[in-house]
Amino acid sequence: MTQIKAIRGMNDVLPETSYLWLYVENICQSVFAAHAYQQIRTPIVESTELFARSIGAETDIVAKEMYTFEDRNGDSLTLRPEGTASCVRAGIENGLFYNQQQRLWYIGPMFRHERPQKGRYRQFYQIGAEAYGWKSSDIDAEIILMSSQIWKHMGIKSPELQINSLGDIQARKKYREALVDYLSQYEAELDEDSRRRLTTNPLRILDSKNQDTQEILDKAPSILDYLDDESKAEFSQLLQYLDALDIKYTVNPRLVRGLDYYNKTVFEWVYKGLGAQATVCAGGRYDGLVEQLGGKPTPAVGFALGMERLIEILKEQKTVTSEQYVDIYIISMGNEARQVALRLSRDLRSNGARVQMHCGDSNIKNQIKRADKSNAKLAIIIGEQELRDNTVILKPLRTDDAQQTISQNDVTKTVHDFLNKL
Ligand code: HAM
Repeated sequence: MTQIKAIRGMNDVLPETSYLWLYVENICQSVFAAHAYQQIRTPIVESTELFARSIGAETDIVAKEMYTFEDRNGDSLTLRPEGTASCVRAGIENGLFYNQQQRLWYIGPMFRHERPQKGRYRQFYQIGAEAYGWKSSDIDAEIILMSSQIWKHMGIKSPELQINSLGDIQARKKYREALVDYLSQYEAELDEDSRRRLTTNPLRILDSKNQDTQEILDKAPSILDYLDDESKAEFSQLLQYLDALDIKYTVNPRLVRGLDYYNKTVFEWVYKGLGAQATVCAGGRYDGLVEQLGGKPTPAVGFALGMERLIEILKEQKTVTSEQYVDIYIISMGNEARQVALRLSRDLRSNGARVQMHCGDSNIKNQIKRADKSNAKLAIIIGEQELRDNTVILKPLRTDDAQQTISQNDVTKTVHDFLNKL
């Protein structure tokens, strides 16, 4: 029979790395809680129209990468490629933005049919945060601060923060015209993708990795020269806040982001050590999206971080080691001894210890071998003699201490003291 394999670009997370996933999730949760953000959970599947109307029909995500299918009713559904659109949909539908401000966070798998490579997958996980209802740039600063706290609490070297402002819709329109005017002079020299984007999505040309296109872009007009007064003032205020927080940044006027909903602030955290897929976290303002999807005008700003990329950094910097997941291994011979073992394991666990009980028949030697392999600090052995005497043998596995025989009544206390001493 042919073996059934996982879908290309969709990965299993195995026990040897799952502890890193838990580590990231725990830290993010506590950072979000410390900033008064509350979790929101939305479905993985949404109406296709939601993403087409928010991310933009001409973007790579919508034009080329969505997992879209018809369900049995003939409705067009899509596996979510990102979390922001779903958050806005859920917020409008449940009245979360009605005369209220919201600080939300989410975690979950996202789906994009991209060409898989290191750091780029077809199913990947994002952890994101979104704030709704604040116009002032102090909330942009809070969002950026929160992401920087995540690096700090993980004990990793901070990625580089790149930041830009796209201005309001008018400013963007004026800039778009100026950019098209400039680039049209060099149309024949642009790479193929950029030539196509000249009519569909010219701002994305600024992202081109093509060497010749990049040289042409070096002399292109800068978006910062086209900003409206309000965006200019807010951007400069935001940079002052970041200075006050001692968060280092690089203003990158070519940073435009690949989703259409952004205005004003956009930013990316880039970690060069990751190679081609170096952006570990990205976000910005999207003040028009709530209204565009049918809600009342609500300013919004947020970010999402790519968990696989973050975990790659943790692995590279070896900041976390696998947590020892078992304290005690219980060995027993025969069914009667197994009854005592089951009872003891229950009592020890309710005292906070992590206990692995040997299940299934096997001889003492084999069980001791397994105990050693489990990385437990202590083995508890109940053989025939111990069963008769109501005792157990405590055998330290990681220290030179001698093994000792103690009464079954004293096990919880003695084991507790032993583990605390380590
Ligand atoms: P995005 O830049 O498309 O933005 O994705 C955010 C992050 O998700 C990226 O920086 C990257 O770390 C990770 N990521 C994206 N695609 C992949 C992939 N194929 N494989 C692995 N990781 C990936 C958004 O999704 C916006 N919703 C962010 C946002 C939230 N803006 C405002 N609020």
